[in-house]
Amino acid sequence: CFAAAADRPLAGRRALVTSGPTREPIDPVRYLSNHSSGKQGHAIAAALAALGAETTLVTGPVALADPPGPRVVRVESAEEMLAACRAALPVEVAVCAAAVADWRVAGVAGQKLKKDGGGPPRLELAENPDILATLSKPGPQRPRLVVGFAAETERLVEQAIAKRARKGCDWILANDVSAPTGTFGGDSNRIHLIGGSDDPQAVESWPVLSKTEVARRLARRIAESLGDKAT
Ligand code: CTP
Ligand code: CA
Repeated sequence: CFAAAADRPLAGRRALVTSGPTREPIDPVRYLSNHSSGKQGHAIAAALAALGAETTLVTGPVALADPPGPRVVRVESAEEMLAACRAALPVEVAVCAAAVADWRVAGVAGQKLKKDGGGPPRLELAENPDILATLSKPGPQRPRLVVGFAAETERLVEQAIAKRARKGCDWILANDVSAPTGTFGGDSNRIHLIGGSDDPQAVESWPVLSKTEVARRLARRIAESLGDKAT
């Protein structure tokens, strides 16, 4: 065996990244979605691939070019995203950066809804599958390392610690989406990493970094955590 080259420490490893928003159909021409740009998730997939990982990027609709390196799988809804993630297994690391819509419309209309004079339609919602929690479930297919994000507007660290426990993932990258740095669609991110050490309450706060730098730092941290493939 050869030790992994120092600049490609993830060579021989498989990685999965989710990115972008999901789109939940209302009828054939309308949908529910959110403002996720996909910048952070795409940057993470590119950074993992740059360190040598065989990377699958499962992405909702975004206005970004495909990053160099990863295999890109395009999906629309949360259910499609989960199916594409399952198909990408097994992987050693999964990073869930997608802003998955929490709800979908129950009973999608087969035809375009019309203004028929009866007033606006009532949309009944159903909860979407939680991709991060599903990937984190113990079992033979569970990635060795599962990383999620927590976007919060208040009590950031407290909620992120609770979210990590609820989802069963290993690391949570918490970011304050009410911050003036403007995470959604912006180019920088201030990250607090929870779960990166033995103490589940310990918080590692990173400075404000560009999303590209956050991705590089995370990819290096993942490489350190997984260790050399050759050993
Ligand atoms: N996530 C996911 N599938 C979902 C919802 C969320 O994979 N259906 C992932 C996101 O990619 C992110 C993490 O879970 O890594 C946290 O997402 P967030 O929206 O902050 O958490 P929720 O559990 O949806 O809680 P809430 O929106 O109520 O804060
Ligand atoms: Ca959510």
